[in-house]
Amino acid sequence: SHQWPFYGDHGQAGVTTPPQRHIMFMTFDMTTPTAQALQILLARWSAAIAQLVQGAAVGTVEPSRIGSVGTDTGEAVGLDPASLTVTIGMGPSLFTDTYGLTAKCPPHLRPLAALPSDNLQPELSGGDLSLQACADDPQVAYHAIRVLARIAKSTGAAQTRWTVMGFGRASAGKDQETPRNLFGFKDGTRNLVDASEFNQHVWIKEGPAWQQSGSYQVVRKIKMNIENWDTDRVSDQNQVFGRHKLSGAPLSGTREFDTPDFHKKDTEGELVIPATAHIRLAAHENNQGVRILRRSYNYTDGLNHYGQLDAGLLFISYQNDPAHFETLQRKLGAADALNEYISHIGSGLFFVPPAAKEGSYIGAELF
Ligand code: HEM
Repeated sequence: SHQWPFYGDHGQAGVTTPPQRHIMFMTFDMTTPTAQALQILLARWSAAIAQLVQGAAVGTVEPSRIGSVGTDTGEAVGLDPASLTVTIGMGPSLFTDTYGLTAKCPPHLRPLAALPSDNLQPELSGGDLSLQACADDPQVAYHAIRVLARIAKSTGAAQTRWTVMGFGRASAGKDQETPRNLFGFKDGTRNLVDASEFNQHVWIKEGPAWQQSGSYQVVRKIKMNIENWDTDRVSDQNQVFGRHKLSGAPLSGTREFDTPDFHKKDTEGELVIPATAHIRLAAHENNQGVRILRRSYNYTDGLNHYGQLDAGLLFISYQNDPAHFETLQRKLGAADALNEYISHIGSGLFFVPPAAKEGSYIGAELF
């Protein structure tokens, strides 16, 4: 089983790291108005994550002193690190006078613009802090968040806000076979994969040193009406995405990695990749070169009130300017054929500071 280091002099792990199989994502709201409480929380979270990614317990599971409470909850004992990464994000609401942070707010950190087809629920949106734990074992990811939520509570600094547990990564990394989302389509075929692309589109290159090699994390909880989708003809589903379901090939080609030809017309003069196809609207060729790194996961919330399968996509993207996400979502929200089957119900934007250097902690430069 693989271990990803927590400390480093580049971006945090969990951004361009090849997507692990499972995610536990959680956001938090501050419960105290002091900068010191925030500082202690970030330091304790960092120290705990450094332990967790090695597969180590955070403190004792069974204390020797009779009558004392365990520090680590224990359910990951005996499990290996399973490629765990935990990525800390900071919401716009953290950079206020309350914590003396107004002047330090990263330049593009602000609530996301209202976007067409938004159906956002406040209880699934926002947050002062975010934690993205990803691992190849769901119990390892869950344990990490549980221990970190416990630290937030015991320091009195923050309380939980909203959470999504996801499975079956729905975005490919380099050398990974393209996985599928819950609509049964390959997801991540045309994603960012190599270091030069990450440098150009993902990592922040401007501003003070402590912002450089950071990134902006967009999180959208997108409900997918999978029961409706399953009644649709597959030929129609292919038109929705502009790709073939089984092979993943663009409708203009035959193999998965063929470059889509957005000009190609059929014998009747109709565009082969329709005007409303998801990939036409999202492709960089049609968006002045805008590209984002997608790192999404499938999720399920069980059944809804009508006994229907309640599931969707925990869409996560990383980019060095959240306006890039907004550009794409403005177009998708207005015209995407997919809109008939999806609904954006949760949303958050977080600044992801660079990794901490050994002996320090994430966000140390803020204080
Ligand atoms: C491509 C699914 C939401 C941006 C794709 C592909 C699929 C897909 C199957 C084609 C394979 C690929 O290249 O990855 C979905 C589903 C969504 C969703 C099921 C919602 C439930 C979004 C959102 C955005 C987005 C919200 C950004 C605002 C993109 C981009 C591409 C893409 C940039 C690559 C287009 C290209 O260059 O060809 N998506 N997507 N998607 N999607 Fe989505």
